[in-house]
Amino acid sequence: MDITLIKENLAKCKTEAEVATLKASLLGKKSELSSLMEELKQAKKEDKASLGKKINELKSTYEHLVQERLAEIEEEKIQNTFKQERIDISLPSYGIKRGSKHPLQIIIDDLSEFFIGMGYTIAEDREVDTDHYNFELLNIPKDHPARNMQDSFFIDMNMLLRSHTSAAQAHVMEEAQGKGPIKVICPGKVYRRDYDDRTHSHQFMQCEGLVISEDCNLSSLMQTLTLMLKHLFGENRKVRFRPSYFPFTEPSIEVDVSCFECGGKGCDLCKHTGWIEILGGGMVHPNVLRLNGFDDKKYQGFAFGVGIERLAMLKYGVDDIRKFYMDDVDFLHEFKKED
Ligand code: PHE
Repeated sequence: MDITLIKENLAKCKTEAEVATLKASLLGKKSELSSLMEELKQAKKEDKASLGKKINELKSTYEHLVQERLAEIEEEKIQNTFKQERIDISLPSYGIKRGSKHPLQIIIDDLSEFFIGMGYTIAEDREVDTDHYNFELLNIPKDHPARNMQDSFFIDMNMLLRSHTSAAQAHVMEEAQGKGPIKVICPGKVYRRDYDDRTHSHQFMQCEGLVISEDCNLSSLMQTLTLMLKHLFGENRKVRFRPSYFPFTEPSIEVDVSCFECGGKGCDLCKHTGWIEILGGGMVHPNVLRLNGFDDKKYQGFAFGVGIERLAMLKYGVDDIRKFYMDDVDFLHEFKKED
């Protein structure tokens, strides 16, 4: 058969089945090719080689043409599917609502940025710790009354969910192997055996600060905390320091900020005192320095611990700590403008 004719016929085939029929007529039992094969059997010896060659050439030409058309049909099918399944991107979408940072994360990020700017590094630490790091190394031996305020969840006699981020202090000091300076903040979750109410939760967040050097002192601590509180609550805030007690600091201080609701005149938020209690801190107790491998004659340090929820409640006027832990999208959405 004439090759051009075959090509034309193949081009007319629209489906694989039609190609198959045509293929049978070209290569099948009743085809011209198969009668040529019959001829080959009868052919004279000297003709066999050239006839055989011709048959093979024809066979591979036909096969090639059939294969080519089949590939074309396959490609046409794919193109058709593309056309039919084309996604109309001009349709308006349903819109994906962007989430917002959690308010507690906003506070942590804000604090981190502030302290990094002052040359601190961030050391996040484990939440499950041993009695040794959570209490003993912080000058709170067994049977110390301060343990009462920080009862936590014990996993066994020695392991507990840390009751304060101060436990991270001991780890940071251990890693420093008695060599200062240290300048870190350690934000993270802490746990206490507490009744959950509007202002208490068995799990909450703190951020610890620890500085150890040869020359830091109480006024560096006071200056640091004043800057931090003005950064958080505004330049015009006044900061007040009161003496306090923590087993791991000596002297210890409690820090208040002037009420940002009434400006210090007295209102419900500040319980009519004009001041809001914010955090605790102090100079690292010499016992703590020694227990953690530091020479207390050479080094001194200061530490402070601040509750993240408390900061967030005050800053954003949230009246119930439990709101931070619920997946109330409307509440969380309120903080979109902050992040
Ligand atoms: N760890 C104390 C608490 O949780 C806070 C604190 C930290 C006080 C560092 C002084 C120094 O109550």
